[in-house]
Amino acid sequence: MDEYVKKIHIDQLRPGMYIADLDCGWMSHPFWLTRFKVKEEAQISQLRDAGIVEFYIDTQKGIDVFDAQSVNEVNLSLDKEILNILAEKPSHAATADLGSELPRAKAILERAHETIHTVLLDAKLGRKLNLSPVRDAAMQLTESVCRNADALNILTRIKEKDSYIFHHSISVGVLLMLLQHDAGVSDDEVIDAGIGGMLHDIGKVYIDPNILNKPGKLTDLEFAEMRKHVGYGVSALKSYQELSYDVILPALEHHERYDGTGYPFQKKGDQISILGQKAAIIDVYDALTSERCYHKGMPPPMAIRKMFEWSKHHFNPQIVREFVRSIGIYPVGTLVSLESGKLAVVSEHNADDLTSPKVVAFFHASKKIHIQPHEIDLARHFGFGGGDRIIRPEDERSWGVDPQYYLQQWLGFI
Ligand SMILES: [Fe+2]
Ligand SMILES: [Fe+2]
Repeated sequence: MDEYVKKIHIDQLRPGMYIADLDCGWMSHPFWLTRFKVKEEAQISQLRDAGIVEFYIDTQKGIDVFDAQSVNEVNLSLDKEILNILAEKPSHAATADLGSELPRAKAILERAHETIHTVLLDAKLGRKLNLSPVRDAAMQLTESVCRNADALNILTRIKEKDSYIFHHSISVGVLLMLLQHDAGVSDDEVIDAGIGGMLHDIGKVYIDPNILNKPGKLTDLEFAEMRKHVGYGVSALKSYQELSYDVILPALEHHERYDGTGYPFQKKGDQISILGQKAAIIDVYDALTSERCYHKGMPPPMAIRKMFEWSKHHFNPQIVREFVRSIGIYPVGTLVSLESGKLAVVSEHNADDLTSPKVVAFFHASKKIHIQPHEIDLARHFGFGGGDRIIRPEDERSWGVDPQYYLQQWLGFI
């Protein structure tokens, strides 16, 4: 029960308390899934050394901290903060509608996919990399982001488990471009961010696949091996003098953390470049929302809330705010339930109010029946195509529905 799970600071942790969730960036810590009762002070020092600052404790299974906030209270105050951010006007406006951009974006993405596939394979075989197709792909992806960023956003969320590294590489590239585009940097910088994002994990091709694809927890030794992908990637890219330094930064810094708990150099705060800080945020967000062989993807609104929570320590809070503003709390393709009892998928942003997007309703949750898909503009009143509102994001896994399918069908894409 959520009311018994409370969030505490490490200074409040005592032997006899039961850790229900280590609230840390799980990419950096091999023991993130462990739930255990704290038996001795030595364990507390160990956790402190690992840089973990806050935890969730289960007060039904261990000692309570009376004045600590429950999970529900924490989530409520996070949602409030996120809504405040969304009240600030988003910076990108689409020049093409989603229906016309989707097929173009799909073709661009397919080519980008082939390009990254070839580059990663060449890297693995020790061949010289041909990077000009990567630049071409980044340029075309940038153009698509400028026309309508939602198209690539939807398409990059459709992933197959078996080729995670390709999808992940491209998603990180696309999201990094989107963030740079919204920050108003030059086109060349957006393109460099795209190339850097797409190549940020190139070092992984040199890691033993048994470690790379191991389900569950890595041993300390395996984790040390895994961390080497940063160094491998940077040295592979550094040999190409035509690449600007910005292209190398995502590979170099995407595992550094704002509070100095990352790797490989434990850089802290503004020792990490802005591009590196953005790459770190996007890398974790994409990993959280992706389906892997060993975990199901988290729905975007929940991942955004998690990122926001971690932003207090692991990420630059200002950049997390920018990120949330760029992708919105309900990215297109998100499953939501409406006040009317309908289940719907977010189909279009409303640039003036990110909490009231257009949605396509396709299922009646309480009656448990499919309904004729129809679009509702949540910014409008009843009788004017609106009159409903989002109560909460839903986890598509618990409903057994694929919102992407309904959205693409609605858009005439499949
Ligand atoms: Fe990585
Ligand atoms: Fe990554």
